[in-house]
Amino acid sequence: MAQVPDKPWGGRFDGSTDRLMEKFNASIGFDRKLYRVDIEGSRAQSRALLRAGVLSQEECDLVLAGLDQVEREIDQDVLPLSDDLEDIHMAVEKRLTEIVGPVGGKIHTGRSRNDQVALDERLFLREAVAGTLERIDQLQSVLLASAEKQIDTVLPGYTHLQQAQPILFSHYAMSLFWMLDRDWQRFRDCGQRADTMPLGSGALAGSAFPIDRDFLAAELGFGAVTSNSIDAVSDRDSLIEYVSSGAILMAHLSRFCEDLIIWSSSEFAFVELADAFSTGSSMMPQKKNPDSLELVRGKTGRVYGNLVALLTVIKGIPLTYSKDLQEDKEPLFDTVETLWMSLDVFAGVWDTMRVNHARTVAALDGMILATDLADYLTGKGVPFRECHHIVGGIVKQAISDGVRLEDLSLDVLKAASDVFDEDVRDVLSHDASTDARDVEGGTSRRSVRAQIDQGLSLIEERRRTQANS
Ligand code: ARG
Repeated sequence: MAQVPDKPWGGRFDGSTDRLMEKFNASIGFDRKLYRVDIEGSRAQSRALLRAGVLSQEECDLVLAGLDQVEREIDQDVLPLSDDLEDIHMAVEKRLTEIVGPVGGKIHTGRSRNDQVALDERLFLREAVAGTLERIDQLQSVLLASAEKQIDTVLPGYTHLQQAQPILFSHYAMSLFWMLDRDWQRFRDCGQRADTMPLGSGALAGSAFPIDRDFLAAELGFGAVTSNSIDAVSDRDSLIEYVSSGAILMAHLSRFCEDLIIWSSSEFAFVELADAFSTGSSMMPQKKNPDSLELVRGKTGRVYGNLVALLTVIKGIPLTYSKDLQEDKEPLFDTVETLWMSLDVFAGVWDTMRVNHARTVAALDGMILATDLADYLTGKGVPFRECHHIVGGIVKQAISDGVRLEDLSLDVLKAASDVFDEDVRDVLSHDASTDARDVEGGTSRRSVRAQIDQGLSLIEERRRTQANS
């Protein structure tokens, strides 16, 4: 008598699975995370099977009640989910069948784990996208509030990490706001493109049963059904889009982490992180470390890694499904968790840090108004290249004399160019410098206020459309 292995797919097998292979093959250790969406999909599938005449009303009711019980058992962590069950799809079906009897075995009619997992992942992604959008929105609100509060805080703006021109702290905060706006759009787009329903694609060729796919889509809240079963079971684009959007988002955060880490050093002290988001040293009693920001910066590497993992898994696998695709889940799950935590922590850091106005102003070096001096001459009709050269000479002298540009006497300026006059004093202040940059998108107070207003109405508009959808 041939050995009959205890597997749903065991019919054509004589021998049982090697233990090592069982462990290697199992995804239940991580895809258990999908149990809710898997059961949600099976509920819709059962209703569609009722409409297709595969299940009677009685059978359908029984199955639905059974699915509720399976969900409760997993919720309460009383259902053992061991490797021999292989994956969450088989675990749910097995437990369902134990509860409701052989009718449980009918729910997989015309369905394959290939379209089932594609569906589960899209349902999961929908929640992942919603949670990510919400968190980005939250951080943007923190930035708006901070920009409103710091409208009078001037600090050095840097290029090449060398002082360049004075900017408003608010302007700086708003620069992240706009990066996050693009991130938000990328995640929303990803969610919109993922809004097609793959169930009914079967293993690869489509279901042989007259399953109403539009009904399924409506039941599960999708805007449309996938158009090609081969594509539907092979496609992981939406996962890749989510993770790549995440990689860009983390790149953005990492740069601000870096600035704030530098700025929280005692040499700069532009900002002080709250105790709540700092940690101490086990050895040096005086230390207060910005671990929160360092970790967000560090976790950027994880998300990049997840993106490379996903792209590499998908590369070159023949259509349609191959088991390689099981490797898509951990990078996705890890990315969602990492993004959510990083966004929450970063928002917490920004919301609670203190900006030290006195330090940012004191840090403005004596040459930072050089462009304003050149712009002054340009305003008097001197060609900019010439102005650049003249002011370069003034800077050289001021540095060797140890004098700030704003403290140079008119005589010294006049010696460099007789175009200089008393009114040069009007441009040689930090406030005058920032306020001069009054173009849309510039760092003047007026312009930054307009930016903040634009940001506020954008968030408001976004919330309105979200509420209506
Ligand atoms: N656990 C599998 C995965 O995550 C489910 C799909 C299995 N399909 C198959 N034909 N073996 O990809």
